[in-house]
Amino acid sequence: MSTPTKGHSRHDTALIHGLSASEVATLSESCIEAKTRAYCPYSNFRVGCSILLANGDVVRGANVENAAYPVGTCAERVTLGTAVTTHAAKKGEIRALAVATDISPPASPCGMCRQFIREFCELNMPILMYDREGKSTVMTLEQLLPMSFGPEKLLATDEVV
Ligand code: THU
Repeated sequence: MSTPTKGHSRHDTALIHGLSASEVATLSESCIEAKTRAYCPYSNFRVGCSILLANGDVVRGANVENAAYPVGTCAERVTLGTAVTTHAAKKGEIRALAVATDISPPASPCGMCRQFIREFCELNMPILMYDREGKSTVMTLEQLLPMSFGPEKLLATDEVV
C-alpha cells in the first residue's frame, strides 16, 4: 500500500467508518461554515457542528452563549437538538457528527455533549473533529465516552429488580 500524502491520511480514517469521500467533504465544509453562525460574544470561541442523517440531510448548528454564562449551549447540543426536533432524527439514523473550531489540534466535544450525543447515536458513530486549518481527527463515540450510560440501561431495570 502506498504511503498516503500528508493531510489525506486523516480523511482515510473517516472512510473506515463507512463514510464516502464526498460525505466527509460535506461534513467538513458544513461544520466549518457553521462556525460563522456561532453566537459567542463572551468567549469568542467559535464552534460549528454538522450532522449527517441517513436520509442525506445535513443539519448545522453552532454554540449559542448567554450573558448568564452557564445558560449558553454548545454547538453539538444545539445541532443535535435541531436534528431531533426539526428532522425527526432517531437513534440509528445519525451517520456522523462533525465539529470545527479555530484551534489546533482540534477540540473534541465536552463531557456534557458526549453524554448528550450518547442518547441519540450509536457507539460506533464517527465524530470528526476539525482544527483551524481544516485538518481532522476522527474517533468513535465509544472511544470518546467509554463504559457509557445510555437509555438501554434504564430499560433494563425490570430485569435487575
Ligand atoms: N463549546 C462548544 O460549543 N462545544 C464543546 O464541546 C466545547 C465548548 C462552546 C461553549 C462556549 O460557547 C465556548 O465553546 C467556550 O467554551
